Amino acid sequence: MFSKSYIKELQGLHNDKSRPRGFGGKIKDLGEFHSFMEKWQPLSLLDYGCGKGTILSFLKDKYENTRMAGYDPAIPMFSSPIHSNFDCVFSNDVLEHIEPNYLNEVLTHINSIATKFIWLRIDTVPARKTLSDGRNAHLILESKEWWENKIKNNIEGKIVYSVLTKKGKLDVAIEKSNSR
Ligand SMILES: C[S@@+](CC[C@H](N)C(=O)[O-])C[C@H]1O[C@@H](n2cnc3c(N)ncnc32)[C@H](O)[C@@H]1O
Repeated sequence: MFSKSYIKELQGLHNDKSRPRGFGGKIKDLGEFHSFMEKWQPLSLLDYGCGKGTILSFLKDKYENTRMAGYDPAIPMFSSPIHSNFDCVFSNDVLEHIEPNYLNEVLTHINSIATKFIWLRIDTVPARKTLSDGRNAHLILESKEWWENKIKNNIEGKIVYSVLTKKGKLDVAIEKSNSR
């Protein structure tokens, strides 16, 4: 789902001393995600691409009744392969960072982990950060429609919410058939 060379590149970004919380790592306004949490009440949630776990810690404090875990192949403490299912997969600012040739595999992986709900926030505009080879850190820059098609082709369930914010972030909520 990723190349070894890209994981090394990501580890370099995460280990940048000027960014102690790593790459991403800020508590952001998560938009309608909280309304969906109220509605969904998942018993378990996986933060897919959790970085150093800053948002994960925030979510653990806020939703004490939801068992939470994180996964991020570039962070040793979160890099163990996921062998269990979660009611909900949450993924914030991750999919635009996936190497394009692995995107279908990553979406299929997310689909296989989530039993009921998926929340995705995807950036559709270029990052300020560049990689060591000069590429923009957002390896995939595509439109709302492109992402919706990609999601429909790789994830089972219904897109019940899809909104592009003024800042170019696409928020998508997906409910699977056994969530009802
Ligand atoms: C911009 S950071 C976002 C981190 C965190 N989700 C947040 O919002 O603060 C992008 C994250 O995607 C992770 N990532 C990159 N490729 C991945 C992959 N194939 N599977 C899971 N996570 C990946 C990176 O290691 C990095 O932590």
